[in-house]
Amino acid sequence: MTTILNQTISLSFTDSEFFQNPYPFYEKLRSIHPIYHGNLLKNPGWYVTGYQEVLTILKDTRFKNRMPLPQTSKRYEQLKNIQNSMMVFKNQPDHKRLRFLVSNVFTPRMVEQLRPDIQETVNNLLQHVQHRKSMNVISDFAFPLASLVIAKIVGVPKEDLSQFREWTVSLIQTIDFTRSRKTLENGNHITMILRDYFKELITKRKESPGDDLISLLIKEEQEGDWLSDEELLATCILIVIAGHETTVNLIGNSILTLLKHPQQMKLLKENPSLIGHAVEEFLRYESPTQMLARVASEDIEINQTRIKEGDQVYLLLGAANRDHNQFADAHVLDLTRNPNHHLAFGYGTHFCLGAPLARLEAQIAIQTLLQQMDNPKLISSEPSWRKLMGFRSLNELPITFG
Ligand code: HEM
Repeated sequence: MTTILNQTISLSFTDSEFFQNPYPFYEKLRSIHPIYHGNLLKNPGWYVTGYQEVLTILKDTRFKNRMPLPQTSKRYEQLKNIQNSMMVFKNQPDHKRLRFLVSNVFTPRMVEQLRPDIQETVNNLLQHVQHRKSMNVISDFAFPLASLVIAKIVGVPKEDLSQFREWTVSLIQTIDFTRSRKTLENGNHITMILRDYFKELITKRKESPGDDLISLLIKEEQEGDWLSDEELLATCILIVIAGHETTVNLIGNSILTLLKHPQQMKLLKENPSLIGHAVEEFLRYESPTQMLARVASEDIEINQTRIKEGDQVYLLLGAANRDHNQFADAHVLDLTRNPNHHLAFGYGTHFCLGAPLARLEAQIAIQTLLQQMDNPKLISSEPSWRKLMGFRSLNELPITFG
């Protein structure tokens, strides 16, 4: 149950209403203060729901990225070590060095070259379910699409992909507030499996290089003092996990949103050139990443709120993207919204590296589904959401069509 007592607000793990629809809770938090101090799901810190405040903090490099597991913890050693070498949890200078090594692969120009391949994959997946007149958008469409695309970029053989669903689902839980000891133990175990898997793949690519990311990173490791073995492994794992989880959520959330807004769906179907704006609006309206974490490296004052050195700061992107001070009719889906400076991919030095790829995949997937599937309909009016605070992610999305 959610309770408001003397301007404090609490949230419990059993609050299923929140996990189904977090937006009323965000509104309550923002109405108390856009930088609210509290202890949600046993995590004390500053919860930031105001758009301007989130943006100010993302721009301020005195707020540092930090490891999701406490460094003092002796448990979950494998998980901790691999996260320690991931760029997303690092600060300068390591962050800049690691990001630079992979940044070329994800530029809009490089990503645009993947368009024919992505279109063909989308066509094949849809053709496969056409005769059934029903599908689960997550497991039949969004997941295999994201998986095949990121595997090709990284250099993971297609035959191995069936294992990745369980691996990514488990690893994402390890960085969420809702994680339990069991989740972390499982994440630690999966990290060992992933580590062995990628070690073997790296050895194979050393013997016979291809034009994939692993081969590129091996070359960079061999040519300079740029990248350690552990960082190479961590970068492969990060890119594969990031490329799976959030893109699946973007496509799933977008289709659900469209099906709940038939007028907007009609508009998009009749005006395919709107797809670019439409995907930006889906990113704003149901942001796949709902929360980022930072720590204050010194005492910092933001809009008269004094944040102390060492304080944890939680940036609720899903709330900022629905802040009525920034977006007119913030809770209304408007596929023609322009400008739309949402923060779904973050902002600043850690801005999502995969954004051009995620945008392209989502645009092609949604547009093609609308063109090829007649009369798509939800089977359940309110499909269930995964119990996560940092991500907006559907368990499944069954639909009918034709
Ligand atoms: C192909 C898909 C994707 C890949 C390969 C990818 C990869 C990455 C990587 C490597 C980073 C770390 C960048 C850094 O620390 O410098 C990152 C950051 C981020 N990604 Fe993605 N991503 C993908 C899709 C998405 C999607 C669909 C979303 C949600 C809309 C998303 C949201 C974010 C956010 C918010 C950050 C910033 C993290 C921070 O500042 O702490 N990503 N992404």
